[in-house]
Amino acid sequence: MKILVTGGAGYIGSHTVVELQQAGYDVVVADNLINSEKAVIESIGEITAVVPDFEEVDLSDPSQTESIFEKHSDLAAVIHFAALKAVGDSVKRPLEYYRNNVFSLINLLNSMKKHGVNPFVFSSSCTVYGQPNILPVNENSPRKDAESPYGNTKKIAEDILKDEVDASSLQCIALRYFNPIGAHPSAIIGELPLGIPDNLVPFITQTAIGQREKLMVFGNDYETKDGTPIRDYIHVVDLAQAHVIALKRLLENKQKDPWEVFNLGTGNGFTVLEVIRSFEKVSGETLNYEISGRRAGDIEKVWADTGLANRELGWKAERDLDEMMHSAWKWEKALQIKNKH
Ligand code: NAD
Ligand code: WQD
Repeated sequence: MKILVTGGAGYIGSHTVVELQQAGYDVVVADNLINSEKAVIESIGEITAVVPDFEEVDLSDPSQTESIFEKHSDLAAVIHFAALKAVGDSVKRPLEYYRNNVFSLINLLNSMKKHGVNPFVFSSSCTVYGQPNILPVNENSPRKDAESPYGNTKKIAEDILKDEVDASSLQCIALRYFNPIGAHPSAIIGELPLGIPDNLVPFITQTAIGQREKLMVFGNDYETKDGTPIRDYIHVVDLAQAHVIALKRLLENKQKDPWEVFNLGTGNGFTVLEVIRSFEKVSGETLNYEISGRRAGDIEKVWADTGLANRELGWKAERDLDEMMHSAWKWEKALQIKNKH
């Protein structure tokens, strides 16, 4: 069965393509490489012995999107990762984020409808919950006003999908990721942040390898055990495997409702200092860091209630924080070697 994976050259998409191919699916990747590299497609081939089909297209353009469906008339489903995702950048360039993320979704849905393709897996985010009143946060918790244009594109996308499910034969699973980190155990693929990373773990590994001078820990005056914020970090391979399961649920018509939402996290929260300790333990490195002021827009604490995904999808994250940090460090070291050549 042939699956279209948009954004499949990116961080989470590439790990998902590996899991899909290892589960026996044929994959077409559609990506305009705005935040990724063509070499990732070859790297996927190195891991799985199959190089996926690759279409370099901008999904925010309707005719480029339509061209994929015309060329691949046998698509069984779509997994949609393609989006711009940098929170801070979205505050500076809101129109570009709305244009890219919302137009791409609408173009895909239009082409899917035209070609009779109904199963759709969407990358949503825990950002839609903001700071939840009750923890752990479950799928019925209210969605708060978005903290950024990026976050708003996820809320808007969920609303568009829900309305389109009601109006058509679309079958959709929206997966709300918590904080994906880590890399494939082979260290052949991983996260490729462009420029200075916003996210904690790439900043930690780039500091340890000597690319950044020190990590700033954004605030230690939160109401948590050590004062630093709590997040639910999830290994990218666990996340990727959840997509294969969600896809099967759609293809086998096992949905309870044509619109379903699942949290994807481990269910455990860790503070920033706990993440640093785990990194130091598995790497044997001492991290240069300093406590600084809070980062605007950061929430204090969030972790997932994963009960629904556990029960309905039969999925549970298996990899712990040490394994996440170990794979992230292995990837950073492999990247350094690659960049030297
Ligand atoms: P990523 O930037 O590594 O991957 C996204 C891919 O989409 C990139 O390869 C990029 O080139 C491509 N892309 C962007 N716009 C495109 C367009 N118009 N046409 C074609 N390709 C386009 O990001 P990621 O971390 O792998 O995230 C994947 C998805 O998961 C995104 O939708 C993101 O918003 C969502 N998400 C990510 C996180 C996270 O922390 N990484 C958390 C929650 C949700
Ligand atoms: C984690 C913790 C920081 C960097 C973001 C998006 C969210 C989702 C996942 C897509 C926080 C602290 C970080 C640093 C630090 N993405 N930190 N020093 O903010 O939870 O979520 O990525 O949907 O929408 O907002 O992740 O990795 O940036 O931060 O102290 O240099 O690390 O304050 O507590 P975040 P993050």
